[in-house]
Amino acid sequence: MQNQIALVLDFGGQYKELICRTVRECNVLSIIKPSDITIEEIKQINPICIIFTGGPNSVYLEDSPKCDRRVFDLNIPLLGICYGAQLIAQLLGGKVEKCDTSEYGETECFVDTDNDLFKGLDKEQQVLMSHTDRITILPSGFKLLAHTKDCPIAAYGNEEKKVYGVQFHPEVEITLNGKEIIRNFLYNISKASGDYSMDDYINSQVESIRKTVGNKRVLLGFSGGVDSSVCAALLAKAIPGQLYCLYIDHGFMRKDETAHLKKTFENRSINFIPVDASSRFLEKIEGVSDPETKRKLIGAEFAKVFEDEALKLGNIEYLAQGTIYPDVVESGKNKSAVIKSHHNVGGLPSSLRFEGVIEPLSGLFKDEVRKVGEILGLPDEVVHRQPFPGPGLAIRIIGEVTREKIDILQRADVIVREEIKKSGEKADQYFAVLTNSRSVGVVGDFRTYGYTLAVRAVVTSDFMTCEYAKLSYDLLSRISQRITNEVKEVGRVVYDITSKPPATIEWE
Ligand code: XMP
Repeated sequence: MQNQIALVLDFGGQYKELICRTVRECNVLSIIKPSDITIEEIKQINPICIIFTGGPNSVYLEDSPKCDRRVFDLNIPLLGICYGAQLIAQLLGGKVEKCDTSEYGETECFVDTDNDLFKGLDKEQQVLMSHTDRITILPSGFKLLAHTKDCPIAAYGNEEKKVYGVQFHPEVEITLNGKEIIRNFLYNISKASGDYSMDDYINSQVESIRKTVGNKRVLLGFSGGVDSSVCAALLAKAIPGQLYCLYIDHGFMRKDETAHLKKTFENRSINFIPVDASSRFLEKIEGVSDPETKRKLIGAEFAKVFEDEALKLGNIEYLAQGTIYPDVVESGKNKSAVIKSHHNVGGLPSSLRFEGVIEPLSGLFKDEVRKVGEILGLPDEVVHRQPFPGPGLAIRIIGEVTREKIDILQRADVIVREEIKKSGEKADQYFAVLTNSRSVGVVGDFRTYGYTLAVRAVVTSDFMTCEYAKLSYDLLSRISQRITNEVKEVGRVVYDITSKPPATIEWE
């Protein structure tokens, strides 16, 4: 039986995946299509509702994205968000103009709760506003449903037509009850039955992988992290025996990582192929201290090693990658600015001739990937493993990377991870960073000149933003004492108290 579908029409907004994710969390399948989708295609999809995303344009400009007006004749419930809300208002005869005062950020919004969209909510809501245009005249037949200090029309609706618009962004966490509003739209207005779950996601991916791959073979770049492990498990379920997991140890792994991975994955129904390439990588980045250059060189070398090793395996038709949605955004594939080059997105040599690339997790956020892993029965320590960057410890060693520095960082990093884990204090990702600064200290009667080691611990659910973890002083003291006692090359331990933005989680 087909799942009910919420169709998300993309008008260029940066939060479209968050809309989809929120809809999925409300147990409704969501799919994104471009705003210029045809009416015939919409009819074929047969959605229970349509959501118009936000977007950076102004609806009153000639070349701004529009949609087929006949979408209003389909009698399908509609929700417009930000640009989407303005577009609906304009297309139905209302007016949109530039604001006297733009609104950005957390805003207090006063809502009319006597309607299906805001039913059950308090009359005052914290919402995220981000707009320079606003609706000034509503189309006839539409009711004002919310306002803020600077935005007289913050939400509107027509209960009979089941068409609604919100100027704010219900899909982001800043809008505290945003999910409730979307749930109301899905269940009160669009009569969703809540027939979608992560099991459906897995089943549809399994089906689609089988259909694509047939009886051919698939090569997965396997790092042992959550993403590639879940990807491996998903592929192993879809095409047991046809999956080759190539694990390249670039020498920048955490302490005893390779041995641990071998033990965890060797006996599974995948073809596990570990390769020690540490000398090649170290040689490549010898003397390099610029972070982007390091990332690029490691990425390029990774591609070469991958190519060499893949060629040894003979002709494998498909390539699989454990790319997840935040990787796609932050690598600039989604028209956002490039922040860091993530080496697991793109970058493989064209000489490797694959018939296609399979990325079954590319629409999911980290916590959703973990859920998929849990359902697939992966052990807890794998599913709840912290993310680890592709270039590994090389980007946690500031400046030049040497074997000695890797060894120092590996030993200090184990202590950081052991102590934070043992404490049970709240942190979603934590590790050590070896800075390139050395400082003077004293041990016994002797002067020392050791490395400064930074401890990084963050709280986050999506790894796209984070707050630094408020670890207790006791815990920080224990970490500091153990590191300075057990890792003699480190003379000073500091704690990174920066959130993201403005910092990133990794230091390079
Ligand atoms: P940043 O440093 O961009 O990190 O705030 C966000 C999350 O992504 C991880 N990270 C990477 N993951 N390849 C990856 O697969 C990479 O090149 C990479 N760089 C950063 C980082 O550990 C954090 O969880």
